[in-house]
Amino acid sequence: MKILISEQIAQKGVEKLTQEGASVDIKTNLSREELLAIIGEYDALIVRSNTKVNEELYQKATRLKVVGRAGNGVDNIEMNGATKRGIIVVNTPESNIVSAAELSIGLLFATCRNIPQLHNRLQERVWDRSGLKGMELQGKTVGIVGLGRIGSLVATRLKSFGMNIIAYDPYISDSRFKNLGVEKQEKLEDLMSKCDILTVHTPKTEETYGMIGKDQFKAAKKGMTVINCARAGIVNEAALIEAMKANIVKRAGVDVPEGEPEPTSPLLDVDNVIITPHAGADTVEAQDNVGITVAQEVIAALRGEMVPNA
Ligand code: NAD
Ligand code: MLT
Repeated sequence: MKILISEQIAQKGVEKLTQEGASVDIKTNLSREELLAIIGEYDALIVRSNTKVNEELYQKATRLKVVGRAGNGVDNIEMNGATKRGIIVVNTPESNIVSAAELSIGLLFATCRNIPQLHNRLQERVWDRSGLKGMELQGKTVGIVGLGRIGSLVATRLKSFGMNIIAYDPYISDSRFKNLGVEKQEKLEDLMSKCDILTVHTPKTEETYGMIGKDQFKAAKKGMTVINCARAGIVNEAALIEAMKANIVKRAGVDVPEGEPEPTSPLLDVDNVIITPHAGADTVEAQDNVGITVAQEVIAALRGEMVPNA
């Protein structure tokens, strides 16, 4: 079993692979040309978000049997090309959800209390809080779009801050809303008009890409805070900037700017936007979980055994 790891995963994951008898090459700084030149030697490839696994790569990957995505979803993996070649694609949908939920809440605190701006001023030896008054969370309404794994973790945690939780997710049962104590919204516009804080937790699909755009901001409660720790583009960046100029949105926290991994998003130049470089899953715990899980899945798939997240 010859496995190429093209983006860093936790050492525990690498150890798991070698314990199972795999020969592992870790090459995390390959150019695209270098990757294409060597991929034909490998039975399995392990990636995170930045390696595009597409037709161009499949054509060179004559031995490839398994692609492991060390993360949630398969956004950077072209599934049709894999399916038609019988290549199994696995991912780790449960392994980093707590970390992603915690960063979403971290961005919420950071934006609502202007923590990075206050820190920056003080680091410049300026003791000045003016213009940076925060907003308390207690009693405010948070609107969650996508009440799946991460959305529900965010909901249960924010309840303990005394927030009202409403959500829009047409694909889950009423009983799930009820069990989580979350008020269901039938229409996205209703949620937009009621919430002080909007946080999106849907996958990126044709339906969700740009789902928070110009028209949705027209329906929004004035002064809202927007958090996107899901995927780039679910909140349209140009529409968000317009909504901020029009004082509809007061602040935003974004972990997934467009253009990743290049720092090219126009949001980087907007005041009151706090941006992190897709760091939702970047904790020791999540990376250990993800690394071990992806290693187990890749080995199982190479051995022709049952794989839970294929
Ligand atoms: P999930 O599949 O468990 O939940 C997604 C929810 O979105 C589901 O309940 C689904 O019904 C709902 N949904 C789908 N389409 C919708 C629509 N059009 N309108 C409203 N709701 C809709 O996914 P998850 O594990 O909770 O992940 C949520 C997001 O977080 C994904 O985009 C994932 O890629 C992202 N994520 C980001 C990081 C990070 O590092 N920032 C880490 C992990 C996951
Ligand atoms: C994810 O989206 O699952 C993670 O952010 C992936 C990663 O950390 O690369």
